[in-house]
Amino acid sequence: MPGLAVVGAQWGDEGKGKIVDYLAAQADVVVRYAGGNNAGHTVVVGGETVKLHLIPSGILYPDVTCVIGNGAVIDPEVLVQELDTLQARGFRTAKLFISDRAHLLMPYHRDQDRLEEEARGAHRLGTTGRGVGPAYADKVAREGIRCSDLMDEAWLRQRLEAVVPRKSMLLQKLYGHPGVTVDEMMDYCLRFAPRLVPLLVDSGALVQDALAQGRRVLFEGAQGTLLDIDHGTYPYVTASSPSAAGVYSGVGVGPGAVTNVLGVTKAYTTRVGQGPFPTELTDATGDWLRERGGEYGTTTGRPRRCGWLDAVQLRYAVRVNGITQLALTKLDVLTGLDKICIAVAYELDGRRIDHWPALLSELSKVRPVYETLPGWSEPIGEVRSWEELPPAARGFIRRIEELAQVPVVCVSVGPDRDHTLVNGVISW
Ligand code: IMP
Repeated sequence: MPGLAVVGAQWGDEGKGKIVDYLAAQADVVVRYAGGNNAGHTVVVGGETVKLHLIPSGILYPDVTCVIGNGAVIDPEVLVQELDTLQARGFRTAKLFISDRAHLLMPYHRDQDRLEEEARGAHRLGTTGRGVGPAYADKVAREGIRCSDLMDEAWLRQRLEAVVPRKSMLLQKLYGHPGVTVDEMMDYCLRFAPRLVPLLVDSGALVQDALAQGRRVLFEGAQGTLLDIDHGTYPYVTASSPSAAGVYSGVGVGPGAVTNVLGVTKAYTTRVGQGPFPTELTDATGDWLRERGGEYGTTTGRPRRCGWLDAVQLRYAVRVNGITQLALTKLDVLTGLDKICIAVAYELDGRRIDHWPALLSELSKVRPVYETLPGWSEPIGEVRSWEELPPAARGFIRRIEELAQVPVVCVSVGPDRDHTLVNGVISW
């Protein structure tokens, strides 16, 4: 039962889209299990850039079945727009399916996200403003609308009547929103139902059948471990479970479905939005990484905060996800630096610690203990084998393997599919 989960080992934006795109060539099924269109995957195919927010990156391969699991939230407007754009560019989308249990992201969730962020003022979370947090909050509050609700008009109206009047009152009274009616939301849902309903499946059954037939299933993570609602830097997190455990609840399969976990980490660290970031560089090196790495958000265009690789954080991600192998992305961005740092521990109130603290006031004041490694000056964008990498780059990779205690099996040295080096084999 070859099931491989590809997860972000940092705060998202690790380059998972590119790695998933590379591995999708070997996959039969690619499944997204968490998040919504807060994610942004940039994939470059033959020099052509494709940006995806909701649809799994596997869609770029015509024979791969793509599934959005119940753990994701679906903004129907975004889904339809992505489908239309892909079709207009000649990509086949006939093999895309959506879980009938996935929740819909409604227009009022977008408004709520924006209004809540404004109301938080200095305590804002820095959300992507796409309505993802409020959609998950309604799911847990049992006030969500599911994709399957679109299949029965009378039932859909009942659900909207149960949910919309109180939601409308809340938005009006708390934030001066003009309000929203059941009829408006009914029209909205019925506008998208003809496009969505034909795609609905039981994602767990589809994936389990594929695994039972020995087909290769790739579980595509969105965001990253440090944005996980349970394991991330709460409250500066997203509202879903992007770590590997999210696969089971977010698709509808048991733990046996995942045989290997590939963690994706950049050769340095970035984060967007608020919250602690121990190795953040607010100096010229941070600016250099941002410019060289093109570190601006795919979804919002916001400049990303940049810093050195953090092995304390990486070890935490390895443990939380059960990562069995690592992919290291954007190694080429480090070319030209005299020296490269990796945080190997922290100093907290004069003590050395090597664990990732839960208490955010502690995490905010830890000081990284850095190990310094030599850099390299040779451009590596055209390197196509491990052996051709400069010795200092290989030394950097070896040190990451020692610190994280898992092998680095894949290195990315540029945005295109070709810019991917594999050491040995990637285990499914
Ligand atoms: P939300 O997911 O829009 O609610 O945003 C919550 C936090 O997660 C914010 O700090 C966002 O910047 C961050 N976030 C959400 N999605 C992504 C992503 O795909 N990459 C990086 N950060 C993300």
